[in-house]
Amino acid sequence: KNIEKATFTWQTPSNIALVKYWGKSNPQIPKNASISFTLDNCHTITTIEFERKRNSELVSESDKLVDFNLFFEGKQKDEFKPKIAEFFKRVAEYCPYIFEYKMIINSENSFPHSSGIASSASGLSAIAMCLMSLENELSSGLSLEYINKKASFLARLGSGSASRSVEGPLVVWGNHPEIEGSSDLFGVKFPHKVHSVFENYQDTILLVDKGEKQVSSTVGHNLMTDHPYAENRFVQANDNLGKLSEILQNGDIKAFVNLVESEALTLHAMMMTSNPYFILMKPNTLEIINKIWSYREENNSNICFTLDAGANVHVLYPFLEKEAVNCFIESELANYCQKKQYIYDSVGFGSKQL
Ligand code: PMV
Repeated sequence: KNIEKATFTWQTPSNIALVKYWGKSNPQIPKNASISFTLDNCHTITTIEFERKRNSELVSESDKLVDFNLFFEGKQKDEFKPKIAEFFKRVAEYCPYIFEYKMIINSENSFPHSSGIASSASGLSAIAMCLMSLENELSSGLSLEYINKKASFLARLGSGSASRSVEGPLVVWGNHPEIEGSSDLFGVKFPHKVHSVFENYQDTILLVDKGEKQVSSTVGHNLMTDHPYAENRFVQANDNLGKLSEILQNGDIKAFVNLVESEALTLHAMMMTSNPYFILMKPNTLEIINKIWSYREENNSNICFTLDAGANVHVLYPFLEKEAVNCFIESELANYCQKKQYIYDSVGFGSKQL
């Protein structure tokens, strides 16, 4: 089909890994399988206006360029362009039609800018969904399954964890023997029925440090290349995913808490034991962890934490504990956040076309 102009808008979520992805080989192939909760409130909304180039603007095969302009929260952002240009270069092989269009990309995040919440997962999956909408118009009538799979495949080429930001509430990325249909190339929905205790699970993100990331994830993943504990870690992560798969089905929440916290600390342990080494937690990260442990013990609660590659803390808890835990967060944990900032979130169901 010939399409001169088309505009698509997608809202795609951020996600938080329960079993972490840390270490990859080229091109964007994970060293172990990972699984994440898809978030609901933390998302990116991206609109892409596609306009077909005139014949005179179509460049020869040899010097093909992807032509786009990028606006972030209303302002032209040339500093974000190289990363997106690199992404388009990687996806072009699978979406050759992007050479035929000029693109105007408008993007905004629901969470505060530079809050230390990774925006690459939601940002890149949103662009991938817009590309798939164009592809769907061009070839008319692709199946939803194909669209989601390919969007996740494309998003992965930009940022590995973005492959887990197309669907929800639980997504596995990486080939794993116990997860049917799983692949290193794209994320798949967790294929089993999840116990009701994990339904509508809550995640409050405590913004401990909103500064620039000390280690980019590219540098971070590379640190696993000559890491003395890497091979054991990859085996452990895959074992943990197998265990977590059972836990999610049987509702053993104590085992969930134990495994999820251990995964978070292991991710940070890998960074502390690599060379160069990094400590990404801040004093307040540790204060919060200790508070969470005391609260859990004193209140017979199932609250737990997980961490990304930074100082912020994700506080995870079942829906049933929402009221009590929110009181605890507001009266105690908020004191350890920068400007007392935190974001209430819960598991969500993936990308939405607006
Ligand atoms: O998607 P990347 O390349 O930015 O890597 C993200 C890795 C972690 O967020 C630290 C862990 C994960 O599995 O999401």
